[in-house]
Order: sequence, then C-alpha cells, then structure tokens
Amino acid sequence: MNFQLSEEQLAVQQAARDFAQSELLPGVIERDAEQKFPAEQVKKMGELGFMGMMVDPKYNGGGMDTISYVLAMEEISKIDASASVCMSVNNSLVCWGLEKYGTEEQKEKYLKPLAAGKIIGAFCLSEPEAGSDATSQRTSAEDKGDYYLLNGTKNWITNGNSASVYIVIAQTDVAKRHKGINALIVEKGMPGFVVGKKEDKMGIRGSDTHSLMFTDVKVPKANRIGEDGFGFTFAMSTLNGGRIGIAAQALGIASGAYELALKYSKERKAFGHYLSEHQAIQFKLADMATKIDAARLLVWQAAYLKDQGKNFVKAAAQAKLYASQIVQEVTTDAVQIHGGYGYVKEFHVERLMRDAKITQIYEGTSEIQKMVISRELLR
Ligand code: CAA
Repeated sequence: MNFQLSEEQLAVQQAARDFAQSELLPGVIERDAEQKFPAEQVKKMGELGFMGMMVDPKYNGGGMDTISYVLAMEEISKIDASASVCMSVNNSLVCWGLEKYGTEEQKEKYLKPLAAGKIIGAFCLSEPEAGSDATSQRTSAEDKGDYYLLNGTKNWITNGNSASVYIVIAQTDVAKRHKGINALIVEKGMPGFVVGKKEDKMGIRGSDTHSLMFTDVKVPKANRIGEDGFGFTFAMSTLNGGRIGIAAQALGIASGAYELALKYSKERKAFGHYLSEHQAIQFKLADMATKIDAARLLVWQAAYLKDQGKNFVKAAAQAKLYASQIVQEVTTDAVQIHGGYGYVKEFHVERLMRDAKITQIYEGTSEIQKMVISRELLR
C-alpha cells in the first residue's frame, strides 16, 4: 500500500476539514444539548458530494475510492459525529448496497437522489429482540404475489425520521431461516409505515435515532433488492463495508479529542510550566498519538483492500474493533488532560467522550467484531 495520498485524496481531506470547521463546529454544542438533527449541514454535505462519495458519477455519486471516504469521515467526525453517522449510513449502508445489488429502476429512482444528498436513507436491521443476533428477524414480509405485506418494528434506526428511503430487512419464510430473509426498499409515506419515538441518547445526540413501525405496509415486489431470500447476505455484505465507515468515525472522534488536548496542553500552565512540559502529560499524548496512528493504519488497510477488490471482511472488523476501543481511551485521556474544563460542555471533549461509546455498539458490537475476525481466522 502506498501511504502517499494522491492530490485528489488530499483535496477531499482538506475540503472535509474546511467544511467541518466552518459549517459543523458552530452550533455543535447546541445541537447536542437540544438533540437537534443537523439538517442544513447535511444538506450542504450533499451539495459538496459527501453523501454518495463512492457511487458512480452516472448515478450522481462522486466516483471516489474508499480511502477518500475514510479521510472525509475522519475529518467530519473530529467535529460532529452526529453528522458523520448520517453520512456513513447514507454512503455505506444505503448507497453502496443499492449500487451493488439494486436494479436499474431502483438506482434511477432511489440511488440518484440519495447519492446527490437530495434525500437521506436509513438501514433497518435491528429489532427490539434482534440486535447482535440478526438472523432472528421478527419483522415479516409476507409474499402476496406482486407485493410484500410488511409487519413489525425496527429499533435504533439512524436517520429514522430524517430519511425518505428505508432499506428494511424482513423475514419472508421462517422455515428457511436466514435464507428466507428479504431486503425491501420502503418509502416514507407508504400507508401503514409510522416513525416511532426518538431515542434520548448518551451521545451522538444530534443524530435522529428512532423506532419504526410497519403495519400491513404493501411494498411492491419491484422494491426487493436481489433475488428472493438474498436479504440476509445483502445485510451482512453491506455491514462489512459499513464497519469501515464506523471505524473511520471512531478514528475521527479520537483524533479530534487528541488535537484539542494537544492544543490545551500548550496553553494551560500548572506548577509554573505548561502542561505539555510535564512528563505525565507528554506520556499521555504519546500514547494517544500512537493509538490513533495504529487505528488509522487499520482503517486505511481495510479501505485499501476494499478498493483493490480483495477480501476486506477481517480487516474491516479489526479496524472497527480497534478504533472503537482506542477512542474510549483517547477521549477519556483528553478529558483528563483538560481537568475540570474537560468535564464541561464548552470544551468539546466531554461530548466526544460520550459520542465515542456508540462506536463499540452499532454496526456490530465489539463482541460481534471478534466473532467475525475469529471466523475469518479459522475458516
Ligand atoms: N459477510 C458476508 N456474509 C456473512 C457474514 C459477513 N461478515 N457473516 C455471516 N455471513 C453469512 C454467512 O455466510 C451465512 O450465509 P450462508 O449460509 O449462505 O453461508 C449467513 O450470513 C448466516 O451466517 P451465520 O450462520 O454465521 O449466522 P450467525 O447467526 O451465526 O451469525 C452474525 C451472524 C455474524 C453474528 C450476524 O448476525 C451479525 O453480523 N450480527 C451483528 C448485526 C449487526 O451488525 N447489527 C448492526 C445493526 S445496523 C446499524 O447499526 C446501522 C446503524 O443505524 C448505524
């Protein structure tokens, strides 16, 4: 792998950095406090091409590689992880699967506006009783000939209210277990589809996480992605790529907290010296930077393998497992370096510490990543 980023990749990184500083930083504390979805900011992210970065330009995408995507994810996550999870879900869990497995009609109708950021998508797998154990889907999609009758509840859905298009995983034939599951494209406004309660979360509070209820929703067969029974494989292969996005998000939260701590250590004096002159702080900074660099190498490796068309399942799970672990440590240290200021809202690091936790839970918990890694090792 070449560690020298191309001019295009550097330009994407700079554009994401500039956007995060100028558009996401102002108001990020208020959006967190008020649980306000960054609607205007996400709209601008769409206009700048951040919502469908890897999609072919013929479907309104940016035609970029996964390395560019993780660079942008890292920069945006440094400032606002609520905006970056919206971006990650739209790019990796919605656009990617539609482009890879959707029909031309589905791409024309749904992928084009999603990749342009004109509308937002959501990926609906988790249920009240099926989180990690994803094959135990209770949501049913009964085959009624030219449509599916969708019934059930989905939980903890990112972009739950702001989305217009939802990819819903549901069971059609229980006897076939995971081979009886389908992935259906559901539009907001379809009769019987109701957006449920918004979750009051510990972190990523600007992200709108909702439950969704489906009661006798008629979903046309034309909205099924792939062959009958392909839904679980669809979900798993989509999540493989999604995990690179979340790993990059964790990396970004960690580097955002580290940069703030580094800056603060050069401004604040204690015992007559800047914090950065105390070895206790220097060693903390050294550990933080080393962990971040190691996480970045794992994230880039996974992105690189994906771009090369190689098997990246293990690399993606390793990147997510590791980046989501070190971000807990790095954000905690960043709060510690800030002392009392780190515990109050205006210094940002307490929010980054709260935002960090979810990266060990969504798109597969750390325990699930260990299952994925060990299965790949023992294959
Ligand atoms: N890639 C591709 N296919 C995979 C796969 C992977 N990583 N993992 C499993 N599969 C396939 C298997 O090959 C198998 O298919 P075949 O029978 O055709 O070979 C099928 O899926 C079932 O696999 P298993 O028998 O291994 O199933 P299992 O029940 O033992 O375990 C699991 C599967 C890996 C634990 C899976 O349930 C899993 O990944 N769970 C976590 C779910 C998850 O990540 N949820 C996140 C929710 S989405 C989210 O958070 C989005 C958001 O809003 C931010």
